[in-house]
Amino acid sequence: MTDRLILGFESSCDETGVGIVRLGPDGALELLADEVASSVEEHARFGGVVPEVASRAHLEAMVPTMRRALETSGVELSDVDAIAVTAGPGLAGALLVGVSAAKAYAAALNKPLYGVNHLAGHVAADTLQHGPLPARCLALLVSGGHSQLLLIEGLAHRITEIGSTVDDAAGEAYDKVARLLDLPYPGGPPIDKLAKQGNACAIAFPRGLTGPRDPRYDFSFSGLKTSVARWVERAERAGEEIPLADVAASFQEAVADVLTAKAIRACKDLEVDTLVISGGVAANSRLSGLAAERCAEAGIELRVPRPRLCTDNGAMIAALGAHLVAAGAGPSRLDLSTTPGLPV
Ligand code: KG4
Ligand code: ZN
Repeated sequence: MTDRLILGFESSCDETGVGIVRLGPDGALELLADEVASSVEEHARFGGVVPEVASRAHLEAMVPTMRRALETSGVELSDVDAIAVTAGPGLAGALLVGVSAAKAYAAALNKPLYGVNHLAGHVAADTLQHGPLPARCLALLVSGGHSQLLLIEGLAHRITEIGSTVDDAAGEAYDKVARLLDLPYPGGPPIDKLAKQGNACAIAFPRGLTGPRDPRYDFSFSGLKTSVARWVERAERAGEEIPLADVAASFQEAVADVLTAKAIRACKDLEVDTLVISGGVAANSRLSGLAAERCAEAGIELRVPRPRLCTDNGAMIAALGAHLVAAGAGPSRLDLSTTPGLPV
């Protein structure tokens, strides 16, 4: 068996991503191209992603982004062996742009099309950096739209959601708290930076769903966000200066504490000894730092892909497509539709 080239399209939110991955005869993956065009700046003044703006930006960026992926990798479109695309979950209009493009190329090139799950794609991203996953591992997926704990028993075989947020996603909490503190959108990077100068123990913000009767693996961040809002309001009423760095550090500590504690608890309960953290919030320095400390104590191997692979991109979708091709999975039909609420 020779090498196969997999082209991946991502358009579920505000990033237009096109990636190309080479699948070797031994199943090894090589990243050949990872081009991303982001419309994040167009959404910044609204404080969150505006679906119509995202769809239009995908429409404009999709073909140029794909051309760049071909150019940077030197791959000819006619040499592509299979096409993968995010079919869900995500914004309906945004997904439609990627799926339509992927279908058009699959039909024109007469190559198989794989509609894939965006969440599984985030986990597949790690295999581009750290190689194949063990037979069983746990993934903590934390982004602007998702906060999930997934048991992975083969990316192409079985993925089981064992926990998720009951309200806001972790990244959403970062974005909302940043807004409260008058920091720019997206809020994760500025809070991460500011928190470095603050005291994480200054304010005891609540750890959602950590009581003895609470669900073991689910998360809740909306109470934390409200608690930050109340704390800031009280300080303002009292005419106190807001210690922004302490608020940022204490909020960040609460998020990292709950995410890592629950992920490690799940690893222990399920007797899994590898934890993968992916999604935009995986780029958070305190989350990866605390996870590294706690995983080392618990004897769990921690895998966190580099930030570029953590945020939305087409390479992760190409990687997941490659895992499906390698596993001999059947392709999707050309009338593949988008599924905005697609579960794992
Ligand atoms: O995975 P992603 O790029 O897009 C989604 O699928 O949502 O994640 C974006 C989210 C945003 O909420 C952003 O604030 C957050 O990831 N984020 C961070 C950091 N960098 C990005 N959160 C905390 N710390 C960071 N360093
Ligand atoms: Zn994502």
